[in-house]
Amino acid sequence: MKTAERISSLDVAAIRAEFPILARQVNGRPLVYLDNAASAQKPACVINGLRDFYTNEYANIHRAVHELSQQATERYENARRIVQRFLNAEDSREIIFTRGTTEALNLVMQSYGRANVKAGDEIVITGLEHHSNIVPWQMLCEEKGAKLKVAQLNDAGEVPFEEFEQLLSPRVKLAAFSHVSNALGTINPVARMIAACKQRGIVTVIDGAQAVPHLAVDVQNLGCDFYAFSGHKVYGPSGVGALYGRAELLEKMPPWQGGGDMIKSVTFAKTEYAEIPAKFEAGTPSIADGIALGIALEYVMGVGLDKIAAHEHELLLYSTKKLSEIPGLRIVGTAREKAGVISFVLDKIHATDAAMILDQFGIAVRTGHHCAQPVMDRFKVPATARASFAMYNTKDEIDALVEGLHKVRKMFG
Ligand code: ALA
Repeated sequence: MKTAERISSLDVAAIRAEFPILARQVNGRPLVYLDNAASAQKPACVINGLRDFYTNEYANIHRAVHELSQQATERYENARRIVQRFLNAEDSREIIFTRGTTEALNLVMQSYGRANVKAGDEIVITGLEHHSNIVPWQMLCEEKGAKLKVAQLNDAGEVPFEEFEQLLSPRVKLAAFSHVSNALGTINPVARMIAACKQRGIVTVIDGAQAVPHLAVDVQNLGCDFYAFSGHKVYGPSGVGALYGRAELLEKMPPWQGGGDMIKSVTFAKTEYAEIPAKFEAGTPSIADGIALGIALEYVMGVGLDKIAAHEHELLLYSTKKLSEIPGLRIVGTAREKAGVISFVLDKIHATDAAMILDQFGIAVRTGHHCAQPVMDRFKVPATARASFAMYNTKDEIDALVEGLHKVRKMFG
């Protein structure tokens, strides 16, 4: 099917109607929300799902025989099965609910990392990583006397495969890399990177936070060991996310937090841990948010990730062309494979000043280092402005951004 035909099958007007916040005005103008890489907005089904659960169905899970608790447990476990289907994991026991990607990556570091990484070992990451996929590994290296190695970026903001591969020495125990960069939108060749690691027996941890809202992910096909994502970037609630881990690894890993729900039995002499996934889910979780994450993922799967990807790609091409025509604007990150993220700087105008003026026109973009300071350092900029797209964005909104940027230019002479 041609791209144009696929796009026309995504009914953007109908989708927009399902996101109540898109109808509001900001600073007297219709909201143009282009900060989706930070957090996506929520469709009515997610908002109503949360309200309905708290209104009619709320109870704690896994603990009681009463009807409400049984129903809440079933809904929560059903959400786990939805996540399993969303990632095409083999078994729902391989899905662990977390607070988000950051917590998922820290879980892997604290449990798998602490148990398996020793002094003299190496961990490989890339120059594209979000702080959440840098700092935990730095902490582990410091604790264990291991070494962190970084695959450097080229001028387009890509990790050349050869650059990554040449770091995979026999000392490397684990490689952690993003599927899609939050700061630049680069899509990493993760399948190839994972295969190179697998051949060498290196465990792979993928930060999928920016990938799952934009492209279909199949963890079995990828062959990764761990894959983490956040609910709030994929139209679900904030405060919930998931970690996929291969059962064989999860079963061997020690728990990382102790408490209720993660045990089989407790005496003062000895505690026996529960099976996976409970072993990694101590305490009462964010029940309603987990259920609403399931609703969000069903919504996304209902729309179709192929259609979403095609639509966002069209927006990326359009915005790249339009923004390139603005005098003094430089796009940072020009990878051949990109998701719907466009980071840019303006000659003699600080990104934050530009964003504050855009905000006056109701246009929301993010500025700053995007929790990826090494990426900013690589491109020798203190910050960028970043427009990031979702399934509900339109070319008219990109035109509004371009018009706003022309006004910014005029204001700064
Ligand atoms: N990681 C989020 C972003 O890229 C918050 O904006």
